[in-house]
Amino acid sequence: MAIHKVAVLGCGLMGAGIAQVCAQAGRDVTVIEVADEYLKKGLGGIEKQLGKLVEKGKLAADDRDATLGRLKGSTRLEDAADADLVIEAIIENIEEKNRTYSALDHACKAETIFATNTSSLSVTQMMTATTAERQRRFIGMHFFNPVPVMKLVEVVRTILTDREVFEAATTFAREIGKVPVQTSDRSGFIVNRLLVPYLLDAIRALEEGVGSIVDIDNGMKLGCGYPMGPFTLLDFVGLDTTYYIANIMFDEFKEKRFAPPPLLKRMVLAGLYGRKSGRGFYDYADAQNPTPMSLL
Ligand code: CAA
Repeated sequence: MAIHKVAVLGCGLMGAGIAQVCAQAGRDVTVIEVADEYLKKGLGGIEKQLGKLVEKGKLAADDRDATLGRLKGSTRLEDAADADLVIEAIIENIEEKNRTYSALDHACKAETIFATNTSSLSVTQMMTATTAERQRRFIGMHFFNPVPVMKLVEVVRTILTDREVFEAATTFAREIGKVPVQTSDRSGFIVNRLLVPYLLDAIRALEEGVGSIVDIDNGMKLGCGYPMGPFTLLDFVGLDTTYYIANIMFDEFKEKRFAPPPLLKRMVLAGLYGRKSGRGFYDYADAQNPTPMSLL
């Protein structure tokens, strides 16, 4: 069950990263977006990332050109028809995903494996938008941000996934230079099951006056060797994204540790999404020197 041709749906931060690593690993990649402007932005971003690697001497100019040559953009789902693997990284909205999967199921050849990059939605629920045969070829492949740097891919099986499809996706993750971990379809999989309560606890600790934003960040960074403290990471992931994931996980497990704290909800309501909006737990007006916000 070799995977040569890949289609990536969605060319935002995650989709672009996934397309880049697949193309760098020698796969032919079709990137599919809903509009030309998103496609242009996503593919332009990949070109920029590859250019940086060339500047740093980490990628030969020839390899960059070959990688770019393997990337093709499209706004038509039908162009995923002969892909061996489709990796979907569109908006985290179950209705939108299911609409896409239903159309894709008709467009693709019978052998195509469908993989979703969702971080917290139910893979099983998405699978139900496809026919019984496809349901056996439906998995999760959850990449981490920034995709070209983070080594992990969570490979997720549902109760209906064929064992050989699961193994083929795991092997593919390894072939594109990632380290796969295998897990089952439970909201948050392995990483967010542990990461999300930790991030939410950091917000609760801040609300309770345990420490300042900077001191809690330094505590975890310098005391535990984490590359980023929890507030820097929250701003990096996006507060809106974290809030969304936490709500889905709370809905699934009904456990307090997944419940978004009031401060997180208020920050999202106020448009403080983190780096992407310029302000979150830190203010990024000077991107090189973010300053902690006064929030309490
Ligand atoms: N894209 C590509 N490369 C990037 C990058 C990006 N967005 N950001 C940093 N890099 C590269 C840098 O160019 C640098 O490369 P070189 O070593 O070749 O120079 C390397 O990564 C290290 O970067 P920096 O020196 O600038 O900074 P750093 O050492 O702090 O590393 C980091 C940056 C890799 C992001 C690191 O801080 C880190 O690992 N942070 C934690 C990230 C994390 O936890 N991600 C998971 C989020 S959760 C998620 O994604 C899933 C979910 O469901 C929410």
